Amino acid sequence: MLVIQDVSKNYGNFTALKDINLEFSAGVYGLLAPNGAGKTTLIKMLVTLISPSKGEILYNGTNITNFDEEYRDILGYLPQQFGYYKHYTPKKYLMYLAALKGIDKKVAHDRITELLKKVALSDVANKKMRKFSGGMIQRVGIAQALLNDPKILILDEPTAGLDPKERARFRQLLTELSRERLIIISTHIVSDIESIANEVVMIKNQELLYMDSVENICHTLEGSIYETSIANEELESFRKNHVLLSEKQERGSMLVRFVHKGSPEPEWTLKSPHLEDVFLFEYRDDLSLDV
Ligand SMILES: Nc1ncnc2c1ncn2[C@@H]1O[C@H](COP(=O)(O)OP(=O)(O)OP(=O)(O)O)[C@@H](O)[C@H]1O
Ligand SMILES: [Mg+2]
Repeated sequence: MLVIQDVSKNYGNFTALKDINLEFSAGVYGLLAPNGAGKTTLIKMLVTLISPSKGEILYNGTNITNFDEEYRDILGYLPQQFGYYKHYTPKKYLMYLAALKGIDKKVAHDRITELLKKVALSDVANKKMRKFSGGMIQRVGIAQALLNDPKILILDEPTAGLDPKERARFRQLLTELSRERLIIISTHIVSDIESIANEVVMIKNQELLYMDSVENICHTLEGSIYETSIANEELESFRKNHVLLSEKQERGSMLVRFVHKGSPEPEWTLKSPHLEDVFLFEYRDDLSLDV
């Protein structure tokens, strides 16, 4: 069990995170917030790359900085920007990292063969990474995070640069990996985690906004999401008076999805909220949406 207790992080005078309290057990946790919200800051503290300015992070009751190698041994981490050697093959690169981690050569060899299969890179195991697509590189990154079969797997924006098919494959892989493991994945893409996260953590204005199931988070907008068709020329004034979540051109008119609290107009259709709605609504200022 990993517990974040009253954690704040300042960079000089700037407060990146304020009084964060979180508890993680097994399962997949999605850290969902827009750019600059503090996802990487939180993750770097969890992997002991930086220290909290205030508060502490405990693993099974012990401050994570009080462990020697013990904590890092159970940790797998994919940084947002991960360094790889493009003239290396995935196999050579992973063997090199395994050596750095002190994993026995024979054990490493078997483990790497298995991991490359898991991330669907067996075919290119001995090809230089120079010509790999973004998705292939990310999969090498995930493989390196799994080298020590970690109990805690932390992935910082692992789907950056992946196409929709690769994203789908990635979600499937995470679901497979999530048995008996704690996985924390940061993203600003709702669909990456909506279907696979047991709980979603959202940070807003440096503070914790939600840590809850997708269902409960969506419930916060229950009864407030509507869709209706409006004439194209009404769009401007509609934007001024409502929080628009999406707009879609239809034959001669606009289908708009929006948030409205209070009594609705009769022609509006009430919709069930999705996580995307909550994301767009809560971060409307950061995302410069119209209010
Ligand atoms: N070393 C640093 N020194 C000063 N400010 C920093 C430092 N690292 C991050 N910040 C600031 O802290 C805030 C949070 O940054 P962080 O990288 O944690 O956000 P993020 O949610 O990971 O963003 P992104 O989605 O762009 O990766 C940002 O305003 C950022 O500019
Ligand atoms: Mg980041």
